[in-house]
Amino acid sequence: MTGKLYPVGDAASDARITRADYLRRYAEAATDPEAYWMREGLCVDWIRPYTRAKDVSFHEVDFRIRWFPDGELNLSANCLDRHLAERGDQVAIIWEGDEQGDERRISYRELHAEVCRFANVLKAQGVRRSDRVTIYLPMIIEAAVAMLACARVGAIHSVVFGGFSPDALAGRIQGCGSKVVVTADQGCRGGKRIPLKANVDEALARCPEVERVVVVRRTGADVPMTPGRDLWYDRLVADASPECPSEPMGAEDPLFILYTSGSTGKPKGVLHTTGGYAVWTTSTFRDVFDYRDGELFWCTADVGWVTGHSYVVYGPLANGATTVMFDGVPSYPDHGRLWETVDRLGVNTLYTAPTAIRALMREGDEWVTRHSRRSLRLLGSVGEPINPEAWDWYHRIVGDGRCPIVDTWWQTETGGILISPLPGATDLKPGSACLPLPGVRPVIVDADGDELDGPAEGNLCIADSWPGQMRNVWGDDQRFFQTYFTTYPGKYFTGDGCRRDADGYYWITGRVDDVINVSGHRMGTAEVESALVAHRQVSEAAVVGMPHDVKGQGIYAFVTLNAGEVATERLRDELRQWVRREIGPVATPDALQFTPALPKTRSGKIMRRILRKIAEGETSGLGDTSTLADPAVVAQLVADRGSA
Ligand code: WTA
Repeated sequence: MTGKLYPVGDAASDARITRADYLRRYAEAATDPEAYWMREGLCVDWIRPYTRAKDVSFHEVDFRIRWFPDGELNLSANCLDRHLAERGDQVAIIWEGDEQGDERRISYRELHAEVCRFANVLKAQGVRRSDRVTIYLPMIIEAAVAMLACARVGAIHSVVFGGFSPDALAGRIQGCGSKVVVTADQGCRGGKRIPLKANVDEALARCPEVERVVVVRRTGADVPMTPGRDLWYDRLVADASPECPSEPMGAEDPLFILYTSGSTGKPKGVLHTTGGYAVWTTSTFRDVFDYRDGELFWCTADVGWVTGHSYVVYGPLANGATTVMFDGVPSYPDHGRLWETVDRLGVNTLYTAPTAIRALMREGDEWVTRHSRRSLRLLGSVGEPINPEAWDWYHRIVGDGRCPIVDTWWQTETGGILISPLPGATDLKPGSACLPLPGVRPVIVDADGDELDGPAEGNLCIADSWPGQMRNVWGDDQRFFQTYFTTYPGKYFTGDGCRRDADGYYWITGRVDDVINVSGHRMGTAEVESALVAHRQVSEAAVVGMPHDVKGQGIYAFVTLNAGEVATERLRDELRQWVRREIGPVATPDALQFTPALPKTRSGKIMRRILRKIAEGETSGLGDTSTLADPAVVAQLVADRGSA
């Protein structure tokens, strides 16, 4: 099956990149990557021009990933200074608060001044090049300001999603050794308050090396301030100079760390560097969203995730776009929120996650159709596979059948979009991320690592580097190479399964490792398991993904209690709340099944394959269970399934 085809149609008429352009660029990038990237790299301004583009080997002996290695630039200057002459008075960011219509607009000139002020504040607080700064903020303009101010002075930001617990925050602060944390008194989400400052206080009890906490006033709540450590953002910037020269950064100097879940152990600090990331986010934003001057671009992702980094902040601002920062949720005050906001602000491109689309689809078309949505030109999807039904609804109801959908596949590790249709160049198939961008070489491999040609299904690797690729795991070079380049030597392994159809279109089938994609958010099964076993009544836990109508995947936990403990409904609730407190609401198990034992091989390895099947509700055809130490465990698990 190759899927229903939606031809490019009207989108092609004024698209900047036609199908012929795409094919030509793809061929150029494949045959002479050096020439292609020498040219493409010029989409950003360089302080010192690079003399070569690509310096890469994926092999162990001479492993290295370097792009534009001798160039110097500053990404904050690319997002701000270079626009001042032409579009200083244009709105750079429209902030849309949690309460409908609570709006703030900031022009490029104002944003430049604010970033310079905060950059001076950081310097005054002793922050220097390559120091780490943790940002734990809601979706407010100050989050973008703090990121850009770090980039301006050469500090490395580590943004931590505001939904993470004090414990998760502490781990991420310790992990990268930040001495400064930027936070807010409280966050607002769907009418509720999030105690951000209180969470920071709790986290910092375990992070004595943090010297300063800068606190933005978001709600004006009365929060305790620790003298000598905590300072108000507004007081600091009021006294700071609105001018601050940007540091010339080497292309391979670190830009940011972003923690993301992997299949094993603690979340890893994905490190991105300056030049390649700048080029990748700038060019992919321009091409995939076919952005035109004066348009309004709205990516609903939080800056705590990579999508917020690349397509709320850096990509749009580097292109001189007007970007929307949304501090609310699609269901508040009602299910029409997104469409009311699209109309009120005049949004041209909406970029959101399948989870949101599926959740809104359930509420009925009325919420959508009562708003005009005339301003919309393009729709985007990201974070997880979009099922064809949701795609169709997005296309037919939200886009009135006239807006192309760009289903963009990428990862925290890839820095920006790798596989996606280009509006005007690519015929669409619902559920397929379609074709690789120029310079991206996807390959599908079988379990033995052999590359499969033509239509095929297997594991998705990328055969060669692209500028936006992550460069390291912060503080653990070994883990970087080990995680991504040893499963299939010589290739970057994505952790995703994938199918390629007869037209060469790619269909991502989901993670093939122990990562669960819950509402487009990555959760490592190991993290949830270690939270569960930290509970005093729990002996062992195994966590797998399960299909979920709205979230894509839900979290299914199998729990064994300590001897003498009794499994009760109350304990089940308590454990779910426990994980929520330990990690954050995104990690809350959707199902939790008590079991006297887990299915283990004789060598003591948990057979997750069986647990996945049971979580999926597939209780027959569990495959070969003869290697289990105690095959009777399986029958018990199946019998108890309904209780989760
Ligand atoms: C999944 C988010 C199907 C995939 C940008 C990937 C997708 C993981 C898509 C990365 C898509 C992302 N279709 N699956 N369009 N986009 N994914 O690091 O499993 O939060 O490996 O980056 O999300 O999640 P991450």
